[in-house]
Amino acid sequence: MEFFSTPISERAVELAVETLRSGRISEGERVRAFETALAERCGLIRPVALNSGTAALHLALALSGVGPADEVILPAQTFIATGMAILMRGATPVFADIDPETGNLAPESVRRKLTERSRAILPVHWGGCPCDLEGIHALARERKLSVIEDAAHAFGASYRGKPIGACSRFTAFSFQAIKHLTTGDGGALCCLEAEDYPVAVARRWFGIDRAKSRPSILGERVYDVAAVGYKYHMNDLAAAVGLGNLDDFPKRLARRRRIAAVYREQLAKVPGLRMTRVESDRESADWLFTVLVERREVLIRKLAAEGIPTSIVHGRIDRNAVFGGPRPDLPGQAEFEAQHLCLPLHAELSDADRDRVVAAVRKGW
Ligand SMILES: Cc1ncc(COP(=O)(O)O)c(C=O)c1O
Repeated sequence: MEFFSTPISERAVELAVETLRSGRISEGERVRAFETALAERCGLIRPVALNSGTAALHLALALSGVGPADEVILPAQTFIATGMAILMRGATPVFADIDPETGNLAPESVRRKLTERSRAILPVHWGGCPCDLEGIHALARERKLSVIEDAAHAFGASYRGKPIGACSRFTAFSFQAIKHLTTGDGGALCCLEAEDYPVAVARRWFGIDRAKSRPSILGERVYDVAAVGYKYHMNDLAAAVGLGNLDDFPKRLARRRRIAAVYREQLAKVPGLRMTRVESDRESADWLFTVLVERREVLIRKLAAEGIPTSIVHGRIDRNAVFGGPRPDLPGQAEFEAQHLCLPLHAELSDADRDRVVAAVRKGW
């Protein structure tokens, strides 16, 4: 039994081969088709395809004007990329607490962390379950802060009927190998404000607008770049894989949701185990199935002995020296850190494997 899967559809293989044979593999028509599909089929607002989720976070911070004098508020319950993108801007990551029942940023803690230097809030949708965006947006409006959602886990999730990718000024997605929509490596930045979009498009490729800069008689593209840009664009090969994988994404997401629903129902009354909370106004992308477990290591060893893999996936990132070590004032984070565990969840998991996980956990530890 695998803990993660890397879903590559037959259509993705066909499109990748077609693209390789075409000899046109840099950013071009396939990237545009992938962006159009993300917008039209998935409801994302102005998605700009990039080569990673980290690039999307970094670009969003740059477009928010975050620099060395600024602070950005984030949870420690995430992958190191979230905090690293802030450091890459020379800014200071400020860790706020999470709700220990969800793993998501707690708006009341964000409020306590606000200072004169705060410039942006960077919530992470842990495991694909959306944060309390209303609470976060209210603080952002009050203090004129940019909200950048780290939706690396949350492609396919929704909040109050709106897709994640259509709610905040910026939303960053990751299409890295084990994400439930993959392009191999890749990402997208969604821009709610129309004026952010052309800047994001230009700065993903050194600040040069590929569509508008035509070659001169000398054969070189004509451009005059005024601001720092990056080598962050997605290429057509990755976009072909993404386009192919999008076709059966709804089916795969539905399969994940069915497995998660069975886990929720069948494991609800197991002593020593609690479900994470999902509010009724949002739908998780069910990238991870996180439970809160007493004597976690005993359960991990017991399941491993039966060939069932589990993982915490990411531990708190503030403990890394680069961020200065674990913060003592995050009780919700400490509580979550001691108990959270993810069970196998992916579209390739068979009913038999799902039932084996359920039976093994229900036997107790
Ligand atoms: C929460 C979170 N944010 C950001 C990233 C970075 O995405 P990428 O690997 O595409 O750069 C990841 C990647 O796994 C992640 O889990």
